[in-house]
Amino acid sequence: MKTQKLADGSNIPVIGLGTAGLQGEKCEQAIKWALETGYRHIDSAWAYKNQPSIAQAIKQVGIQRKDLFITSKIWRDHLSYEKALNQCNEILDQLQMDYVDLLLTHWPSNANVRSAQEPENVIPLEETISAFNEIHKTGKAKHIGVSNYNINLIKQAQKISPANIAVNQVHFHLSDQNCSENTSQTLIDFCLRSNVMVTAYCPLASGWCPANGGILKHPLLHEIASKHNKTPAQIALRWVIERGVTAIPRSGSQNHLRENMEIFDFELSETETVKLNTL
Ligand SMILES: NC(=O)c1ccc[n+]([C@@H]2O[C@H](COP(=O)([O-])OP(=O)(O)OC[C@H]3O[C@@H](n4cnc5c(N)ncnc54)[C@H](OP(=O)(O)O)[C@@H]3O)[C@@H](O)[C@H]2O)c1
Repeated sequence: MKTQKLADGSNIPVIGLGTAGLQGEKCEQAIKWALETGYRHIDSAWAYKNQPSIAQAIKQVGIQRKDLFITSKIWRDHLSYEKALNQCNEILDQLQMDYVDLLLTHWPSNANVRSAQEPENVIPLEETISAFNEIHKTGKAKHIGVSNYNINLIKQAQKISPANIAVNQVHFHLSDQNCSENTSQTLIDFCLRSNVMVTAYCPLASGWCPANGGILKHPLLHEIASKHNKTPAQIALRWVIERGVTAIPRSGSQNHLRENMEIFDFELSETETVKLNTL
């Protein structure tokens, strides 16, 4: 599995398994297939309510903890100092682990609709970052990071945090005019220049993405896919990782899980990339 470097020189596998919406037996089965296929990076979150199933599957496959890269996220209603520390403990209990490799704030505090309506409920970034640094110091998170942060918020977090802000996890895929939520290339460029690795969520423009997989039907993707003897999903993922970022496609299908890993044996030509950039 190819890896990218985090700011402290440690590795993060380029492809991870997204798990939002995978529940119960379906989740356990997907994790087992993924680990057997070679996935070592799993993206989870307290809010996904599936961490006990992830723990169960890891135990059954019997992979050593040190060979895995596990991400989890603190939900946006739990960003005060005490609540963040408590939720981290809950996450570790659910995952049956002593540490996660990466702990993210799932959303900025002011993205919470209720907080936005009641500004007094917005938790100052200083308080959240302080909790995350405490978690990092105690070894419960090897790295800390953020999700859904814009350039301004990243800059603020970097200023406050003694520990590196290792990752910003954001909505990113082949841009699709039907999807107004996509992250701009400017944010990606800023993060990478600032030593913040980017993880692309909804990399197939499907799942929770309003574009609902529409991009995978685009004739250009089909044309490029047939030239490389790959599928449109593999072209979409290859385009994402060639931007120098990591990606966490979700799948509950054994074939798709395998497909999403088989993207390291070809490259997009410059002409293909230029064409895909204009989608
Ligand atoms: N930080 C955040 O705020 C945030 C927000 C949203 C998501 N995420 C994370 O990002 C992960 C990925 O995002 P997502 O699940 O919304 O979207 P996604 O990975 O872009 O798309 C998942 C969908 O694509 C299908 N799919 C997977 N591989 C395929 C392939 N090779 N060919 C065709 N279809 C394929 C899956 O169906 P099958 O199951 O049938 O394969 C599923 O319906 C989430 O699971 C979660 O871990 C984070």
